[in-house]
Amino acid sequence: MAHQSDLIEKDIDAYLHAQEHKSFLRFITCGSVDDGKSTLIGRLLYDSKMIYEDQLQALEHASKKMGTQGDEMDLALLVDGLAAEREQGITIDVAYRFFSTDKRKFIVADSPGHEQYTRNMATAASTADLAIILIDARLGVLTQTRRHSYIASLLGVKHIVVAINKMDLVDFSEDVYTEIEKEYRELAESLGFSEVICIPISALNGDNITTVSERIQWYKGPALLPHLEQVDVANEQVTLPFRLPVQWVNRPNLNFRGFSGTVAGGEINVSDEVIVIPSGKRSRVKSIVTHDGELESARADQAVTLTLEDELDISRGDVICGADTPAEQSNQYAAHILWMAEEELLPGRQYLLKTTNKITPATVTELKYKINVNNFDHEPGKSLELNEVGYCNLNLSQSIAFDSYKENRNTGSFILIDRLSNNTVGVGMLEFSLRRAKNVVWQEMAVDKLARAQSKHQKPCVLWFTGLSGSGKSTISNLVDKRLMDIGRHTYVLDGDNVRHGINKDLGFTDVDRVENIRRVGETAKLMVDAGLIVLVSFISPFISERRLARTLVEENEFVEIFVNTPLEVCEKRDRKGLYKKARRGEIKNFTGIDSRYEQPEHAEIEIRTEDCSAEEAAMEIVDYLDNKGYLKS
Ligand code: ADX
Repeated sequence: MAHQSDLIEKDIDAYLHAQEHKSFLRFITCGSVDDGKSTLIGRLLYDSKMIYEDQLQALEHASKKMGTQGDEMDLALLVDGLAAEREQGITIDVAYRFFSTDKRKFIVADSPGHEQYTRNMATAASTADLAIILIDARLGVLTQTRRHSYIASLLGVKHIVVAINKMDLVDFSEDVYTEIEKEYRELAESLGFSEVICIPISALNGDNITTVSERIQWYKGPALLPHLEQVDVANEQVTLPFRLPVQWVNRPNLNFRGFSGTVAGGEINVSDEVIVIPSGKRSRVKSIVTHDGELESARADQAVTLTLEDELDISRGDVICGADTPAEQSNQYAAHILWMAEEELLPGRQYLLKTTNKITPATVTELKYKINVNNFDHEPGKSLELNEVGYCNLNLSQSIAFDSYKENRNTGSFILIDRLSNNTVGVGMLEFSLRRAKNVVWQEMAVDKLARAQSKHQKPCVLWFTGLSGSGKSTISNLVDKRLMDIGRHTYVLDGDNVRHGINKDLGFTDVDRVENIRRVGETAKLMVDAGLIVLVSFISPFISERRLARTLVEENEFVEIFVNTPLEVCEKRDRKGLYKKARRGEIKNFTGIDSRYEQPEHAEIEIRTEDCSAEEAAMEIVDYLDNKGYLKS
């Protein structure tokens, strides 16, 4: 490697020690290839001598061959693997590159700048301490400058360097620079950065990259690399309140019980008092163990195992905090979410919410507004599409310990996971807890579900009929209802068409509305089960996720899913309501089976193939099932 230090020859131990103890800066570069992003990164790698000799030779060859820079080397070629990927239409992720100088080690995350890669940029920004926003001096502040700045701010990047590039092409004009700086500072005003510095550069010629350029005499600030070397970010993490999200409880034998994880903020010393959230129990740190031996103190980013003086019941998912600065806990939040999936965010759907050390089911209960990332406007919306940002209310199945993202990026962030595909579909930043539901406690009733059920001589349950429109759900559920009535059982039918005349009359047939439709009817069915009834629910209920949610609302043996399996062609041929014809003519949008999907049940308790049996036979089969499983006696 071309990187040289006299110490390597003179005192290799001192050299290695210095290398190990250099501070780290993680930064992200925002801009497009045209702004000179690749050239800038290439220049930083080249000037910091982090290029292998063979890479250097290859670069010389390639530069001559391409001839883009005359006889000079084209540094952009060093990092232009990405451009090649782009031409081939390959999905572009974030490229992380490492380099170091005598003073510091750097990781630069290079993510593509176009709007369709916003999620990639967000991933890169989430761990960055600093963002370099590249501006072409000839073009000034653009829409993408706003977008990049907003995403950096949303993901908690505090330090911004505005690199005003291609100054050579505007004759190193101070006026051009001043104008751009003024415009940028105005746009950044509302974004809450702690530091914004503007540097006029020419990445191509190396002006103001490693040393202050002779050619830009009017500029009095630092060159880029020296600035990156001295930005103070380490202290910001350490001055936070102490947080150790417990990843696992380390119990190799009966004599040792330690709590392991990566310190997510602050600092802790042996014998400091700590408080555990959620239990609120207190103790003192007995020892701090690492794979390199015991420490007297530990700070942010270190992986440690703490042992405590008292035997406390602590498990994975708990957070050990400084005694005077406990994390808050809640199950209701306001949060920003950036959506990362092709399928839209559906408020009301249950996702898995994962924090640093805990996973819990969660739903977006309300999308308050979307934020236009290009101009920061708030816009109304019912769901979020890929790369969109929204401000939402969230409801979690369990409380979690948290800090606001603005205060601590580790304990204030989460990802959302789709329960069926297991894909990460969103990232979120917690703002604050909502206390609305806090003082509402469950009222125990004198007459409970069991008493009601016994008086009716039955075991209450939900018979959940799902299937296409016209599959026969309503016909069969009506017959079942009648038979149960005849033998003196207590029932009620919730039918899609009817419920949509009342409590669900505000809902249409978009995916978002269908999710809410099923959520409400699931909750209603739950109340009816609590009233001791056998509830027949007859809704298309096309999505696995929501049927699963409805199932989880009641007890395990209280949910009987009945798949009325009639092929689309048959439903369409019957077409009693004439809706399929209208849908085919395009007069009804989002019609199930035509231009809206139906997800077949995977494990329905009962499957009825209406082509093979009459509605009466199907009804009989269901009543027999209930009888055999003991639902018809108390
Ligand atoms: S669900 O998908 O949200 O469960 P639901 O069962 O409530 O649907 O309502 C379905 C009924 O609404 C159908 O039986 C049909 O009569 C009527 N309907 C009107 N428009 C549509 C549509 N676009 N897709 C499906 N059903 C529709």
